[in-house]
Amino acid sequence: MILINGATGKTGRAVIRALIARGAIIRALVHRPDQVQAMQDLGAHEIVVGDMLDPATMASAASGVRAVYHICSNMNPDEIAIGEVVIAAARAAGIERLVYHSVLHPQTEAMPHHWNKLRVEEKLFESGLAYTILQPAAYMQNVLAYWHQIMEQGVYPVPYAVEARLSMVDLEDVAEAVALVLTEPGHNGATYELAGPEALSQVEVAAILSQQLSRRVQAQTVPLDEWERKARASSMNDYAIGTLLQMFRYYDRFGLCGNPNILNWLLRHPATTFAAFIARIPNP
Ligand SMILES: NC(=O)c1ccc[n+]([C@@H]2O[C@H](COP(=O)([O-])OP(=O)(O)OC[C@H]3O[C@@H](n4cnc5c(N)ncnc54)[C@H](OP(=O)(O)O)[C@@H]3O)[C@@H](O)[C@H]2O)c1
Repeated sequence: MILINGATGKTGRAVIRALIARGAIIRALVHRPDQVQAMQDLGAHEIVVGDMLDPATMASAASGVRAVYHICSNMNPDEIAIGEVVIAAARAAGIERLVYHSVLHPQTEAMPHHWNKLRVEEKLFESGLAYTILQPAAYMQNVLAYWHQIMEQGVYPVPYAVEARLSMVDLEDVAEAVALVLTEPGHNGATYELAGPEALSQVEVAAILSQQLSRRVQAQTVPLDEWERKARASSMNDYAIGTLLQMFRYYDRFGLCGNPNILNWLLRHPATTFAAFIARIPNP
C-alpha cells in the first residue's frame, strides 16, 4: 500500500492513475469529505480525510503503508511544517521509503515556494528515512488554464517576458516517473530533476500552438499590476499572490530551465514534446 498526500490535486490524480495502472494499492489522503467520491471514482483503495498539518491524521494515514508519496499543495505557507509532520509520521510508522514531490531548482531563494521545498528536502536528508526526491519543472498542463483565450482570442497570456524560457514537462510523464520510482527498487537516496525536452520561450510555445491548432496564436505579456488586480478580485489568498508575483519576476529575468536526461532515462523513452502534448488534447 502506498499513501498519496495531496491526492486530489492535478498532480495527485495523475500519480494515482499511473500507480493504479501499474497494479499498486493506493491510500489517498484528502483534505475534505466532499473529495472522497472523486478518489473512489479514480480507484483509490482506501481514503483518509484530514489535514496534513495534524499529527494524528498523518499518523493514521501513514500506518501500515509501505511508502509515502508526499505532495504538498501548491503555494502552501505551511509547507515546511507539513513536511516535518509527514516525516515524523513516516518514521513512527516504520515505512520503507518517503518519496517527495519537490520542484525544479528548489535552491532558488527568490521563489519562497521553491526555497521551502529545499528546506523539506534537507529535513528528509536528516530524517534517517530512505527517500527519493523528484524535482519537476513547470507542467505543460498549466497552459490549459489559458485555453479559452488561446482558442477564442488567439492570445497566450503570460505575466512575464515572452522571451522567458521554461523546460515545461508533461504531467503524464512526471506521473509515470513517480510510479516507476515508487514501484521499482534502486531509487533510495536519489534526487531526480524532471524537466521537459525543450527549453521553450513563450514565443516558441505560441508558435507551436499556432502550428498544432492551425490558427494564429501570439504570446503576450500581462503587466504584473493587471495580473495582481485580477488575482485580488478572485479568491486567491495574500500568500499565494505574493509568492506567485515573486515567481513571475524570477521567470521574467531567468526563466526556469533544466535538462531532460534523467526523465528520459527513468521513462526509458523520450519525454513528451510540447507539440505532442498539444496534439493529444481532444477536439481543440
Ligand atoms: N503546477 C506546476 O507546474 C508544478 C510544477 C512542479 C511542482 N509543482 C508542485 O506540485 C505540488 C502539487 O500541486 P497541485 O496543483 O497538484 O496540488 P494542489 O491542487 O495545490 O493541492 C492538492 C490538494 O491538497 C489539499 N490540501 C491543501 N492543504 C492541505 C492540508 N493542510 N492537508 C491536507 N490536504 C491539503 C488540497 O485540498 P483543498 O482543495 O481542500 O485545499 C488539494 O486538493 C505543489 O507542491 C507544487 O508546488 C507544481
